[in-house]
Amino acid sequence: MSAPLHRGLCLSGSLRRASSNTALLQLARSLAPATLELTLYQGLSGLPLFNPDDEVEPLPPTVAALRQAAVGCDVLLIASPEYAHGVPGAFKNLLDWLVGSPEFPGKPVVLINASGRATIAHAALREILTTMSAEIWLDVCIPLPGGVCDTARLAADATVTDSLRETLATLAAELDRISPR
Ligand SMILES: Cc1cc2nc3c(=O)[nH]c(=O)nc-3n(C[C@H](O)[C@H](O)[C@H](O)COP(=O)(O)O)c2cc1C
Repeated sequence: MSAPLHRGLCLSGSLRRASSNTALLQLARSLAPATLELTLYQGLSGLPLFNPDDEVEPLPPTVAALRQAAVGCDVLLIASPEYAHGVPGAFKNLLDWLVGSPEFPGKPVVLINASGRATIAHAALREILTTMSAEIWLDVCIPLPGGVCDTARLAADATVTDSLRETLATLAAELDRISPR
């Protein structure tokens, strides 16, 4: 019987259809080594506004699906834009829904900053995730070229693909080290 794959869940902090952060994560999916299967979470816009009063069973279905996806993977890959020196509200909302998930603490995270300029939201994300007891395994900056950044354009940019491949290889090796397939 073949060894199981390691599984990663990609979380983009952007709701934009033409999001560069989402494009980068889509590219990561296609560049991931054969031992690492990446899935892109697509439910960000469907999450209700976080309210602790609603954090009771049964959870809203979209929240239950988010928690199941986040708990069921080996690692989270996160790439988010910066809005007004902060984490986009929609993405902070997602993270708030994960705070109360009993299985979240210890979750490995790869944090990707797709902009060399956006350092404040990135630092805030680190702080939030650390407070949530996530394990930040890798924290990388892969600055994207200016202008429209769709997956095809990024795939043709050797600087981006080299950085992404290196990050994914390091991640796959670490997953193999702690949990041999
Ligand atoms: C409302 C708004 C506020 C922004 N604020 C910042 C900011 O404070 N710092 C920054 O570096 N970029 C800022 N940006 C630029 C976005 O972070 C940037 O365009 C990013 O690439 C968008 O990510 P996306 O393509 O994944 O949607 C802002 C963009 C918007 C729409």
